[in-house]
Amino acid sequence: NKPLTITKIKQMKSDNEPISVLTAYDYPSATLAEEAGIDIILVGDSLGNVVLGYDTTIPVTMDDMVYHTRAVARGARQTFIVSDMPFMSYHISKEETLRNAARLMQEGHAHAVKLEGGAEIAEEVYACVRAGIPVLGHIGLTPQSVHQLGGYKIQGKTEQDAARLLHDAKALEQAGAFGVVLELVTEPAAGKITSSLSIPTIGIGAGRKCDGQVLVYHDILQYASPYRNKKFVKTYANVGQTIRHAISEYVADVKSRAFPDESNSFEPQTEALSGGIY
Ligand code: KIV
Ligand code: NA
Repeated sequence: NKPLTITKIKQMKSDNEPISVLTAYDYPSATLAEEAGIDIILVGDSLGNVVLGYDTTIPVTMDDMVYHTRAVARGARQTFIVSDMPFMSYHISKEETLRNAARLMQEGHAHAVKLEGGAEIAEEVYACVRAGIPVLGHIGLTPQSVHQLGGYKIQGKTEQDAARLLHDAKALEQAGAFGVVLELVTEPAAGKITSSLSIPTIGIGAGRKCDGQVLVYHDILQYASPYRNKKFVKTYANVGQTIRHAISEYVADVKSRAFPDESNSFEPQTEALSGGIY
């Protein structure tokens, strides 16, 4: 199996085939997402929240993104990988934007990058596309601007706001983006954008009309802490509970000396371990 291409991703919209996207941040999450058949892996700067423990995505650095993208690329060699450009990595100058986007591809081995923003960043998007860097747009609730937006608010509620979002989506399409993420957008506004664009929309909290859906790994698995109940998330496992339970059993086994037992112990004649060790 080969990774998807942006041509095939755009074709999926024409074929009315939903596009499945999930975040991953490291080797095991990438491996499992690929084995499960995900279409696209997003190395989201949500890693700031769910793997690094920050309150927002703002502290996430280029070095963080490169490091995690590399690990994902090692785990998912047959999956199309999009990597987030973090806060302030595409606002200073076109030169910095290009250098940073290039790092995610050359050092991180991403196939594409994602930038938050609409018409105001269309020039940065165009600069990347011109350089051979595929870009996924991201509008609606853009978490890197949370302090400017005044909170995690649903976007596109008024006709005027919906029109602004549509204008932004069209500016991104015009600039050469191969798709647009719509985050926390009302279903009617997301539906209008989806039917007005030739490139796919990937929704998160944007209702049923988008061409694809994206969710955060830790959210669908209930692996994030603290577990916030989010209306737009569907959970498919409670991995956090499973892990906590397993660790507490391990602790109890050590305390009671139930582990290790004879089968875990070496005799002088034991052969070398196959499969390596850390
Ligand atoms: O960082 C992320 O995980 C994202 C998705 C929520 C779209 O940007
Ligand atoms: Na993000």
